[in-house]
Amino acid sequence: MTRPTVGILGAGAMGEIFAHGLLRAGWAPEELALAVRRPERIRELEYAIGALTTLSLVEAAEGRDVLVISVKPRDVPGVLEQIADHVTPHQVVVSIAAGVPISVFEGALPGVPVVRAMPNTPSAVDLGIAAYTVGDAVEEADAQRAEIVLAAVGDTLQVSEDLLDAVTAVSGTGPAYVFLLAEALIEAAIREGLPHHAAEKLVHQTIRGAGELLSTSDKSAFRLRGEVTSPGGTTAAAMHVLEDGGFRALIGNAVRAAASQSRELGEKVSER
Ligand SMILES: NC(=O)c1ccc[n+]([C@@H]2O[C@H](COP(=O)([O-])OP(=O)(O)OC[C@H]3O[C@@H](n4cnc5c(N)ncnc54)[C@H](OP(=O)(O)O)[C@@H]3O)[C@@H](O)[C@H]2O)c1
Repeated sequence: MTRPTVGILGAGAMGEIFAHGLLRAGWAPEELALAVRRPERIRELEYAIGALTTLSLVEAAEGRDVLVISVKPRDVPGVLEQIADHVTPHQVVVSIAAGVPISVFEGALPGVPVVRAMPNTPSAVDLGIAAYTVGDAVEEADAQRAEIVLAAVGDTLQVSEDLLDAVTAVSGTGPAYVFLLAEALIEAAIREGLPHHAAEKLVHQTIRGAGELLSTSDKSAFRLRGEVTSPGGTTAAAMHVLEDGGFRALIGNAVRAAASQSRELGEKVSER
């Protein structure tokens, strides 16, 4: 399948990550169009991406094969209102807005194929994971066009829509859990006497290495952790503190809070 042209509607943090990723994956700037809300963003993005960058959602949307809707959930209804008369069933809409159900898009854009996806920020280094679900009007070729765009910046996974709030809480929010762990580890390393630069280097490479080991090994996280832990050893001492302090329950509560926030955001948008 040839590369679909892409309109990115709302080129903020995630939209820009997608634009850069598509360029890295071989898209030409002329195959992309970006819509922004502030004139100063036009200058920034024209310089950084080199694609058509416009204040007009319609100009960025018209004629593009795939439209990535990457505004905040609360801005989705306004975007849909502006583009509704200009989007055709030959295009595919890919929404990455957290929580906003496919029905909101299908209601505003009758007959237009809609894919709802939840990517994450490691897409900036082509190591993202985007889970997605497809709407009623999506044919095989539409799903492929959406998949090509999502896969440009990482892995993909198809799930049913009812699981997307959980996905949001796990992999969408997930990088923040890891970054918080990194902050806490660096602070702890400094308290133990390590210089700042050494603490950062040790923590960054440890997280990178553990991630790579986990994703490439056929062993589970539990087994890999076991291999670092000998009875009565240093890791065992650390694990006792974390388990006794409720680490697992805390992570569970955090994921639940994120999932419920995702549901709430979606409900608010659906009610409008
Ligand atoms: N960040 C993440 O980790 C992540 C991960 C997965 C999914 N998401 C989802 O991705 C979406 C974007 O998140 P983000 O972090 O990239 O937010 P963001 O940086 O605020 O990007 C949204 C952009 O859309 C622009 N915008 C809003 N209304 C517009 C309009 N009518 N026309 C043109 N541009 C418009 C905003 O302009 P202004 O600059 O003027 O506000 C902003 O630049 C959200 O729905 C979020 O749920 C985010």
